[in-house]
Amino acid sequence: MASMQTECLHAARARLDRLWARGTEFLGCRYAIMGGAMSWLSEKHLVSAISNAGGFGVIACGAMSPAQLEEQIAGTQALTDKPFGVNLITMHPELNDLIRVSLDAKVGHIVLAGGIPPGPAIRAVKDGGAKLITFAPALALAKRFARLGSDAIVIEGSEAGGHIGPVSLTVLAQEILPHLRDVPIFVAGGLGRGEAILSYLEMGASGAQLGTRFAASVESIAHEKFKKFFVQAAARDAVPSVELDPRLPVIPVRGLVNEGTKKFLAHQAETRDKFLSGAITKEAAQLLIERFWAGALRRAVIEGDIETGSVMAGQSVGMVTHIQPVAEIIQELVDQAVKALAAREVV
Ligand SMILES: Cc1cc2nc3c(=O)[nH]c(=O)nc-3n(C[C@H](O)[C@H](O)[C@H](O)COP(=O)(O)O)c2cc1C
Repeated sequence: MASMQTECLHAARARLDRLWARGTEFLGCRYAIMGGAMSWLSEKHLVSAISNAGGFGVIACGAMSPAQLEEQIAGTQALTDKPFGVNLITMHPELNDLIRVSLDAKVGHIVLAGGIPPGPAIRAVKDGGAKLITFAPALALAKRFARLGSDAIVIEGSEAGGHIGPVSLTVLAQEILPHLRDVPIFVAGGLGRGEAILSYLEMGASGAQLGTRFAASVESIAHEKFKKFFVQAAARDAVPSVELDPRLPVIPVRGLVNEGTKKFLAHQAETRDKFLSGAITKEAAQLLIERFWAGALRRAVIEGDIETGSVMAGQSVGMVTHIQPVAEIIQELVDQAVKALAAREVV
């Protein structure tokens, strides 16, 4: 009986390896689990921990300068000899230099996030010999990015933490996975368990990207208060930012409700009233609203200001039950997928 169980688990592991083979080959790692780039969090310690545990870490460049990125890449390379990627925001004013720095350091995978990647940036990445990963929020864009040269695509549902689109992963996956086989697709948003990852692999995904579960890991440099907030929060506490008036749009960001999110509503109301009374222009009002959260993620992650800072988190925060080492999180995800497969082979 025991040996039958062992055989069953062995077969299930082999099946999982086959299911995400395209993803592991593309990333060059043991498990097709990407650590989604998270500004302030995805630095050398977390990124190298994910890659060392068999996943694929990604540095979040955010607003870093080319010199700072160079330092982060070198720091990560000192902590791991496994592959990892960098995530660059397309509207960064020094995007070309950031790409050059990444290529010079022999980073093999570059993620271009935050909008449609510009042609010269795509060419620079490809000509430099790196693999290009983009985010696609709809099938038409996914097809377009693949045609333009994207080597892999991430589809991120609105369950995710941070900046989000309007559509859930459940729907995006059904819209995109059956219709796009040209490039590997990684699913993201709301993933906290291996069984869920498995279900998307069976629909045609090549791997998964998780952020929230890694944010509160042992290796994450986030402030203890930030991690504790994650452990205590339920899925329902991770909500998108609310737009008070469509004339003054708010970019939706999913995070944990706190004093800051309440103050943001009051700030919007005040700003709208000033705009409606003619005291300020619409452009000035829009800028005031956008500036409200400036520096707020850093305040929460680094300084531990979880009252008024921006505590970006996905709905999967409900599945963060304690602060775990990255390797344990990855192993747990893999074991859950394997057990789910093994259980089927028994019945
Ligand atoms: C705190 C936090 C910060 C994030 N920052 C970024 C970022 O700078 N760039 C980016 O492309 N995605 C960012 N994300 C999204 C993640 O890379 C990832 O796609 C997402 O967390 C996946 O969904 P999950 O949170 O449900 O695991 C962030 C997510 C979180 C939770």
